[in-house]
Amino acid sequence: MIFRQLFEPLSSTYTYLLGDDRTGKAILIDPVISSMERDLAEIRRLGLTLAWTLDTHIHADHITAALELKRAVGSRIAAPAFDRLPCADLGIEEGRPFSVDGLELQPIHTPGHTDGHFAYLLDGRVFTGDALLIEGCGRTDFQNGDADALYRSVTDKLFALPDETLVYPAHDYKDRFVSSIAQEKKRNPRLGNGRSLEEYRDIMANLNLPYPKFIDHAVPGNRQCGVCPPDLPQNLAQYCSQMTHSPQG
Ligand SMILES: [Fe+2]
Repeated sequence: MIFRQLFEPLSSTYTYLLGDDRTGKAILIDPVISSMERDLAEIRRLGLTLAWTLDTHIHADHITAALELKRAVGSRIAAPAFDRLPCADLGIEEGRPFSVDGLELQPIHTPGHTDGHFAYLLDGRVFTGDALLIEGCGRTDFQNGDADALYRSVTDKLFALPDETLVYPAHDYKDRFVSSIAQEKKRNPRLGNGRSLEEYRDIMANLNLPYPKFIDHAVPGNRQCGVCPPDLPQNLAQYCSQMTHSPQG
């Protein structure tokens, strides 16, 4: 399997490129609209064609590139069935593997950050979206977020995976790239080291985070699989314009 971890600096999002070298087909997990040209260039450079895009959830901090990639190269759109997006070509459900020419992902419903959130397991790697971040987790105060549900998603489902499973999150804000289930079970300050549900509830209720600055534009845009709002204020325009990336990108 071909695997690339791609970083989008404005929202500190990781996009994952999975490719099968026998069939030449690729999937992008959580592509970002402002980085789609960079992602497509990487896919072409590797001699792959983009078959599907797959989002972990309806993002509040960036616009997915799913729809624009479909327009550009004919890729199809997979998204959690829970969210009932009319623009999706396929609704992902737990217990039903998502298979694309040589790649098979196991979808894991991990509600709590959003109610429709999914993680995806593939060959010893788990793409955890915003359910489990490296020494952190997504916030639970918007989009039907629920701290109790996220606690159960992580401790009952993700922490039940083999210890050596590599954890690839949807974001990192401190230049970290990858963790493992064993490491998060030990080191995650919110959910690891035997934190109780009561302790976790308390932590999440006292984060005092600011209102997400892009959420009112991102969520409606992402419910349409990635439409940039026409009324975007100047200070947010960069979320919808193509980013120039360094060669290491
Ligand atoms: Fe999110």
